[in-house]
Amino acid sequence: MKSKVITITSGKGGVGKTFTAVNLSIWLRQKGFNVLLFDADITLSNSYIMLGSKQNEKFYNFLSGNSKIQDAVITSPYGVDTITNGNQIIDINDISKEKIKTIYCQIKEMKKKYDFIIIDTPAGYSNYIYNFYLISDTVLFIINPELPSITSFYKIYKNFYNNIIKKYQKLISGIIINRCKDVNSGIETYKVIIELLKKRMKEFNRIYNPSLTGIILNKEQEVKTAIQKRIPAIVLYPYSTLKGSFDLICNNLIN
Ligand SMILES: Nc1ncnc2c1ncn2[C@@H]1O[C@H](COP(=O)(O)OP(=O)(O)OP(=O)(O)O)[C@@H](O)[C@H]1O
Ligand SMILES: [Mg+2]
Repeated sequence: MKSKVITITSGKGGVGKTFTAVNLSIWLRQKGFNVLLFDADITLSNSYIMLGSKQNEKFYNFLSGNSKIQDAVITSPYGVDTITNGNQIIDINDISKEKIKTIYCQIKEMKKKYDFIIIDTPAGYSNYIYNFYLISDTVLFIINPELPSITSFYKIYKNFYNNIIKKYQKLISGIIINRCKDVNSGIETYKVIIELLKKRMKEFNRIYNPSLTGIILNKEQEVKTAIQKRIPAIVLYPYSTLKGSFDLICNNLIN
């Protein structure tokens, strides 16, 4: 199987990018794939909590020295390799352009070693995030079924469509609706999103519709307990509907 880079992103913050990135990585690892999770939300990195892993200074050493980003990899308790910032407060604007460039290049190089590289981005749209799209095979947009999340998605997708999809047609984009009341409401939200794209983007071409990669239910108690215990939700609840959501999403991604 060809190695894949999957970037997980969103317009609005707090919609479940990190939750999805962590559990997706764990699911793929449980199936025997070699997985690297890169926490690209450098300033506010928190994937290590949901992953049950530890903060470390290796990524900071990479940023401040001459080591390769490969040297910043640590293996988390459930077998996913990860690169994450530690305790240092890093303003992305303070990192040199050259250093940022080496992140994209060296992450891409690691496709040789991993079956999947999952990139958890900060929210919003910036040049920094845009360049992760360019090294990706798949970009997944996480959306909550509320209007602010849908309209933020529309804003970033418009740029994404005009600057990326039209130029790099091989790149696949998908939507995951997270925190849904039930599956039907997730499907309804997806329909609303596609209608919005059709209505607002005159030249929107149906061939490049972002597909519905999956729907994740809102499971406050389970997710809260998993985070408190620092155990990935699908490990703590292997027979739950949450795990079922990830089965569908990940089977979509590997097939
Ligand atoms: N399916 C879900 N059911 C219940 N709670 C959820 C679900 N997904 C995420 N959450 C909750 O939402 C909060 C935000 O999730 P997460 O940190 O993954 O979002 P994010 O998009 O990565 O945020 P940020 O933009 O700050 O990086 C988490 O604390 C988690 O408790
Ligand atoms: Mg996050």
